[in-house]
Amino acid sequence: MIIFKTARELALMKEACILSAEALKLAGEAVRPGVSTADIDRIAYKHIVSNGGKPSFLGYSGYPATACISVNNEVIHGIPSKHRILKEGDIVSIDLGATLHGFHGDNAATFAVGEISPEAKRLIDTTKEALYKGIEAAVSGGRIGDIGAAVQKHAEDKGYSVVRKFVGHGVGKDLHEAPEVPNFGSPGRGVRLIPGMTLAIEPMINAGTHDVKILKDGWTTVTVDGSLSAHFEHTVAITPNGPVIMTEL
Ligand code: MF3
Ligand code: CO
Repeated sequence: MIIFKTARELALMKEACILSAEALKLAGEAVRPGVSTADIDRIAYKHIVSNGGKPSFLGYSGYPATACISVNNEVIHGIPSKHRILKEGDIVSIDLGATLHGFHGDNAATFAVGEISPEAKRLIDTTKEALYKGIEAAVSGGRIGDIGAAVQKHAEDKGYSVVRKFVGHGVGKDLHEAPEVPNFGSPGRGVRLIPGMTLAIEPMINAGTHDVKILKDGWTTVTVDGSLSAHFEHTVAITPNGPVIMTEL
């Protein structure tokens, strides 16, 4: 069931989204050669709890950390570790959410560790652009498929592939609400977009094929072909005046 949010609820949820965005910004600013993914997770955790929030992922289906931190060929759900030290040339996706006033914010971005290759930079830029294409398509009266189609076209035009196995989602009092928001699809298909819907739009784009697999830790999801992958995510509200990015500072 899709849960529509009132203006009052959107205002409360906005605060959770801002807290998520701040934590992501701080985490991203900590990315540099020599830091561990656990160090970055700690920074996000501290910011969220010191502002009265709760990390949305911590304990979710047993997930053990604040952020999912995924390096290079890791697509999503990388578990932070003090043994995972970032090095020059890596790309690192940080995905995190915060709960405040009973609502979740959810956002992700991919960062460069020092100097990265032109190919890695192009993948990051394209994935971010694909997210914004998807957001632009999230207009009242449109359909869920419009979002996926816009993301997919941008990624595939650049020679990349869109992960199929994981999708975006409604978000609100629950981290994952209906509807699913695939990053692929056909315009004019799927659930109609109506004001009050809040969606986490989150393209995961691979440099190689779209196939992914989950490692034995039960979480870390990697590209099957070992290619690089990038991930960006915003929480977006559908409004009569167009999409509003809730996780924008
Ligand atoms: N942002 C991801 C999502 O929206 C991460 C959640 S997985 C978790 O699905 F279990 F770690 F919370
Ligand atoms: Co999400």
